[in-house]
Amino acid sequence: MEGSTMAKATVVLRVAAISGSLRRGSANTGLIRAAKEISEESIPGMVIDHVDISDLPLLNTDMEVDGGFPPAVEAFRGRVRAADCFLFASPEYNYSISGPLKNALDWGSRPPNCWGDRAAATLSASGGSGGSRSMYHIRQVGVFLDIHFINKPELFIKAHQPPEKFDSDGNLIDPEIKEQLREMLLSLQAFTLRLQGKPASSEQ
Ligand code: FNR
Repeated sequence: MEGSTMAKATVVLRVAAISGSLRRGSANTGLIRAAKEISEESIPGMVIDHVDISDLPLLNTDMEVDGGFPPAVEAFRGRVRAADCFLFASPEYNYSISGPLKNALDWGSRPPNCWGDRAAATLSASGGSGGSRSMYHIRQVGVFLDIHFINKPELFIKAHQPPEKFDSDGNLIDPEIKEQLREMLLSLQAFTLRLQGKPASSEQ
């Protein structure tokens, strides 16, 4: 990306990126690392904040005291609130959202809801389904949370089918998927700016 183009973006959008998989070597966490690299290299005006959800306790409203939350939950909610938009990369587990991701969505939803009125994009590296069923479940949950998902592009990756798309550490090695991910980030950027009533990045 040329320096002159990089300098064009005056609005910097903060993306809270959440992986629904907690395992080392996760392909979905690898997708978030790839998104971060892509945005740093070629998408001015977008900063990706990888929000790790592995420290969140399982939701139990007994842990809420006088409207306060446990420290890990407070920190998580703060990063969600600080975001302009969200990127969810999550495996499908048994035809639905992963348990850790649903837990994070639920903690963020406790009053006052931290997710509301923000744009989001969602993608999945999963088994034979590519994760499409879980992605439509995230959209369903997002209705109640007032999250506004981009419709397209959709990205359902059959992570374990050849040719190899991720290395053994979960790093994305497929150039075609990298380009599709870039298109998704650009779509998220454009929709977020539109939702915020700000000019598109090409007009800045
Ligand atoms: C899975 N997987 C899976 N895949 C799929 O396409 N549809 C499904 O319903 C399920 N169900 C399921 C349940 C459970 C409990 C596990 C552990 C796995 C496979 C899973 O999505 C796949 O291995 C992903 O690549 C895992 O993502 P990470 O950990 O690499 O990010």
